[in-house]
Amino acid sequence: MTNRTLGVCYYPEHWPQEMWAADAAEMVETGLTWVRIGEFAWSRIEAEPGTLTWDWLDDAVETLGAAGLKVIMGTPTATPPRWMLDKHPDMLAYDAEGRRRGFGSRRHYCFSHEGYREESRRITTLMAERYGANPHVQAWQTDNEYDCHDTAISYSPSARLAFQDWLAQRYQSTDAMNRAWGNVFWSMDYDGFDQVGLPNLTVTEPNPAHILAFRRFSSDQVVLFNKVQCDAIRKHSDAPIVHNFMGRITSFDHYDVSRDLDIASWDSYPLGFLMDRNDAPEDFKSRYLRQGDPDFQAFHHDLYRTCGSLRAGEAPENGRLWVMEQQPGPVNWAPWNPAPLPGMARLWAWEAFAHGAEAVCYFRWRQAPMAQEQMHAGLKRPDNAPAPALSEAAQVAAEIAQMPKAGTIRAQVALIFDFDSAYAWEAQPQGRDFDYFHLVYETYRALRASGLSVDILPADRRDYTGYTLIFAPGLLHLGTSRMAALASSGAQVVLGPRAGTRDTEMTMPTPLGPNILGLDATIAFTESLPPAHPIALENGGSIWKWFEALEGNADVIEATTDGRPAMVAFGALHYLAGWADPEALVRIVRQMAAKAGLDTLDLPEGLRVRDTATHRFWINYGAEPSMFEGRTIGAADVLWEPLA
Ligand code: GAL
Repeated sequence: MTNRTLGVCYYPEHWPQEMWAADAAEMVETGLTWVRIGEFAWSRIEAEPGTLTWDWLDDAVETLGAAGLKVIMGTPTATPPRWMLDKHPDMLAYDAEGRRRGFGSRRHYCFSHEGYREESRRITTLMAERYGANPHVQAWQTDNEYDCHDTAISYSPSARLAFQDWLAQRYQSTDAMNRAWGNVFWSMDYDGFDQVGLPNLTVTEPNPAHILAFRRFSSDQVVLFNKVQCDAIRKHSDAPIVHNFMGRITSFDHYDVSRDLDIASWDSYPLGFLMDRNDAPEDFKSRYLRQGDPDFQAFHHDLYRTCGSLRAGEAPENGRLWVMEQQPGPVNWAPWNPAPLPGMARLWAWEAFAHGAEAVCYFRWRQAPMAQEQMHAGLKRPDNAPAPALSEAAQVAAEIAQMPKAGTIRAQVALIFDFDSAYAWEAQPQGRDFDYFHLVYETYRALRASGLSVDILPADRRDYTGYTLIFAPGLLHLGTSRMAALASSGAQVVLGPRAGTRDTEMTMPTPLGPNILGLDATIAFTESLPPAHPIALENGGSIWKWFEALEGNADVIEATTDGRPAMVAFGALHYLAGWADPEALVRIVRQMAAKAGLDTLDLPEGLRVRDTATHRFWINYGAEPSMFEGRTIGAADVLWEPLA
């Protein structure tokens, strides 16, 4: 059982010191517990190389702490000061077009630049030495949002050198690499690792195996950068270390980064995310304009709760999850920036708690009157008057006091989300709307629309026992140990589409996929289809975007209206031979849940449920009240009921 708490992101360096004490008092009065500071303050800590100015930060920590707040100290490495570029002129990242990125905003560094990694270790060590034993500093945040502004993948000269080194370690010889990648194709063989470039600016598409290797390498660079900071902090502090991940990011492996963290957090901007997405239909965006997509936040809570379990080797339901930044009002960065419906700043927090969050911190305390984020709301306006979310935060705090403890339970349903599959899909898409995240996310939506609570899991677990239903869509590389773990889980398992159709190096296996234990089915050929050309299913809904023609004698569970198999099974192992549209997906989810002995709900549009150890939470993303089985859940409202 963990405590539910609220917090806020604060930038003392943006405000006169005379305001700090009143701000701190008001935070406490609002019912906030945590305050995150420091993550962009490098130029005020070290105005010139080696000249450190701590007194203002000491005062800020003391003022906030004395008021009763717990400080989350952010390392400032997302914003290296201008002098850093004079010291390390080659530290900047390069985009895929080969353009060097510039100074004047943030995240202007390449993860592969060793000099900058050392600077990052140095400043982190200095901060940890100074505040590691400070009783007010009760958590640390590493950097800020790895990959924000597309910064995890860099095509810089430093990246190229580091990639060559990474390849040499992985393959040991260019012969082995040539064989693994199939470089005989188009005479791409190498005879020295120093010949290998980055997979950009090639005349036409690079070898997908080359892209996949580069994506794995790029992910490892993020892991290493983060680990350097974690190691530096742990030398001087016992406080938990957290990173604030973002939503919908597949450019690095969040599980791998999380293995060095005590807590996984993410930054939840429901309206910004919805407006920013190009995979959501316009009528859907209009319906949820002021509430956000009813499944997007939950998906990330479930993903990051698992991330927060990895370092301690805990069960997924016991993972340590925070929301480090919670949208309070309009943001500044989406194509349109609507204001949330009254109640949403409260709903989003309670939904996070229902998914196991220990803390939800609003971003930011007061709207900044200067610079890039002037148009981004806070809990307070730039003139220090309260903004609408302040009273909602206070309401949540008062409600938490009534129900302070949160207990999660293992979900019955597991959904596998695998970053390596995302890289592989992106390396060789075979269709314009091929998007692994989207496929997994649509499966999640169908599960949630059926009232099921879900744990999102990595693909490398050896043991899936405890789950009764497992979905693993799009797992491109299956392999014998993954297959064995799934087959011995005791759960009903649904794999596909595209499962087991590449080995770990992106080569097609023989026998051809899906290679599911005991299942007599082989993918004879595949086709990708424009969404306007669905293939209707006998039982309703369609397969769209991707269809696999199966041969073999496996039991057919779903067939197309022209009599071809679309889903086959061997015992509890099922294979879906295409991308099911939302209607078919919901139907298949409910049928599989029934087979697994799980009850489902046919929830009205916009209404969601989430079960904790003690309560069922009803969360209404609708702009109108929702009626279900005798209860009414108000617009943008949350209701909780004790579980029988
Ligand atoms: C996040 C970032 C914050 C702030 C916020 C604005 O991505 O971590 O520093 O920029 O967005 O919504």
